[in-house]
Amino acid sequence: MKPLTTLLCAAQVCWATMACAAPLAITLPPETAVFKSSALPGYPLAQQKCSTCHSADYINFQPPGMTLAQWTAEASKMQQVYGAPISDEDVKIIGAYLAVTCGSARASDAEVQAASNLSPAPADKGDAMALLKNHGCLSCHAIDHKIVGPAYHDVAARYASDPQALAGIASSIQHGSSGKWGDIPMPPFAQLSAQELQALTTFILHQ
Ligand code: HEC
Ligand code: HEC
Repeated sequence: MKPLTTLLCAAQVCWATMACAAPLAITLPPETAVFKSSALPGYPLAQQKCSTCHSADYINFQPPGMTLAQWTAEASKMQQVYGAPISDEDVKIIGAYLAVTCGSARASDAEVQAASNLSPAPADKGDAMALLKNHGCLSCHAIDHKIVGPAYHDVAARYASDPQALAGIASSIQHGSSGKWGDIPMPPFAQLSAQELQALTTFILHQ
C-alpha cells in the first residue's frame, strides 16, 4: 500500500503545483451571465463575442440611457479600433441588444427589430477566438503573457510596422515557426483554410 499511497500523493502534489503554475490563457469574466438576459439574438452573440478581451463590466459601467446609435457605435469601435473579430452584422445585432438591455431602446422599436433580424456571421469560420480554442493555440499562447509561445500582444507589437506581417504570420501558423522567439519551435497547422488563417492573423495582429 505504502508505495502506491506515496505515488498518489506525489502525483497530487505535482498536479496541484502544475495547476497553480499553469498560466491561464485568458482571464474570462467569472460568469457570462453578467450580460443581462434577453430574448434578442444579440444576447448569446454578446456572451460569445464580447467577453474574450474584457469582462461584461465594461458594458455595465457605461452611462445609462445610451441610444441604439451609441451602442452600435460602441460595438463598432470594438471591431474597428480594437480588432474584435465580429462582422458588420454582429455589430448591429449586438448594438440593438445592448441598447435595449442597457440603454434607451425598446425591443419593439422598428430599428431594433430590423437589426435583430440580420444574420450573424457563421460562428466557425470568422470567429478567431473559437479557432484559437479549437486548434489548441491557447495551450501555448495567451493574449498578454508568454506561455510556451510568445504573447499575441508581443507578436502584434513586433510586427506593428511590418507591411509583410499578415503574410509572414499566416505562413508561420501554416508551416510552423522556429528561431524567431526562442529555442522552442511551433508546430505547423497545415489543415487551416485560407479564411481561417486570415481570421487568426488579423486577430493576432490587433492584440
Ligand atoms: C479584441 C478585444 C475586444 C473585444 C472582443 C471586445 N472589446 Fe470592448 N474593449 C477592448 C479594449 C482594448 C477596450 C479599452 C480598454 C481600456 O481602455 O482599458 C474596450 C473597452 C470597452 C468598453 C468601455 C468603453 C470604451 O469605449 O472604452 C465597452 C463598453 C466595450 N469595450 C464593449 C464591448 C462590446 C459590446 C464588445 C462586443 C461587441 C466588446 N467590447 C468586445 C477590447 C475588446
Ligand atoms: C505546442 C505549442 C504551440 C501551439 C499549439 C501553437 N503555438 Fe504558436 N508558437 C509557439 C512557439 C514556441 C512559437 C515561437 C516560435 C519561434 O520562435 O519562431 C510560436 C509562435 C507563434 C507566432 C509568431 C510567429 C512569427 O512569425 O513570429 C504566431 C502568430 C503563433 N505562434 C500563432 C499560433 C496559432 C494561431 C496557433 C494555433 C493555430 C498556435 N500558434 C499554436 C508554440 C505554439
